[in-house]
Amino acid sequence: MLFPDYRPRRLRQNEGFRRMIRETSLSSNDLILPLFAIGGKGVKNPIESMPGHYQLSIDNLVKKAKEAYELGIPAVMLFGIPEKKDPLATSAYAKNGIVQKATSELKKKISDLVVITDVCLCQYTDHGHCGIVDGRIIDNDATLDLLARTALSHAKAGADMVAPSDMMDGRVAEIRNVLDENDCSNIPIMSYAAKYCSAYYGPFRHAADSAPKFGDRRTYQMDPANSLEAVREVTMDIEEGADIIMIKPALSYLDVICRIRDEIDLPLAAYNVSGEYAMIKAADKMGWIDGKKVMMETLTSIKRAGADMILTYFAVEAAKELRRL
Ligand code: PBG
Ligand code: ZN
Repeated sequence: MLFPDYRPRRLRQNEGFRRMIRETSLSSNDLILPLFAIGGKGVKNPIESMPGHYQLSIDNLVKKAKEAYELGIPAVMLFGIPEKKDPLATSAYAKNGIVQKATSELKKKISDLVVITDVCLCQYTDHGHCGIVDGRIIDNDATLDLLARTALSHAKAGADMVAPSDMMDGRVAEIRNVLDENDCSNIPIMSYAAKYCSAYYGPFRHAADSAPKFGDRRTYQMDPANSLEAVREVTMDIEEGADIIMIKPALSYLDVICRIRDEIDLPLAAYNVSGEYAMIKAADKMGWIDGKKVMMETLTSIKRAGADMILTYFAVEAAKELRRL
């Protein structure tokens, strides 16, 4: 099909044709809004590097979640900022922990909203690592039990789904077992299966106060240079019982999303992370790009690469834009 027989521009000449041949569509159903819960009342601490996002006390968090839900966003992902940190991350699995309280309040006030909880220890350990440490070593197997306790406490508080983001080996199986043994066999696991050791997490670590106090996360998060290893990580998590697979970050890893989409048939999520959000917001503020258009193009590209759902700080803005279009 060569020119002049085939003229690709024929089907680009009006919006009707363009709509008819559009291959990818973005919907508010695809979006998951991350939220940061903190103690207190009436608290709304701006996160400087993530304009439009705040550490929210539960009353304000419920308001934000309601706004999102009413815009057609089916789910939120909850992160907690605890009052106290210690070596064993006890606030992560405390019955009255911040995520546990926020979860039960959300389910009480907006019962049909899907509440997903991030399961990790880094916001709760005094050293900021995702696992417990022995000297300077992150102790994989000693961490598993604490992660499972955290996941179970979220489920008992009413979480609809748990999402381990720690990257310890074997944590999906451990969480699955503990959930199953405690009458939570119906709670799905969204696994951060291929989570890269990325500099794009910078703004999040300010927001969640979770930067490691020594070293970095290279002994547990993946090397950005690897893609075959993502296949191994994803395969393992599926065998261990994951229900949804996540790739994180999204934009520098669209090839990984595409590859995993080709190889597996589970629902696939991508995390459009804090640094990806911050870059667009910053360039928009400078007047260098049209932030709204770049947002829609970015989210569409993540879906085109193969993601079924996108965790994104743009969720509310994008849902508003979709409503307007
Ligand atoms: C840690 C965690 C991170 C994010 C979510 N959970 C990053 C990290 O510090 O390794 C990043 C999210 C983002 O940047 O938006 N378990
Ligand atoms: Zn962590």
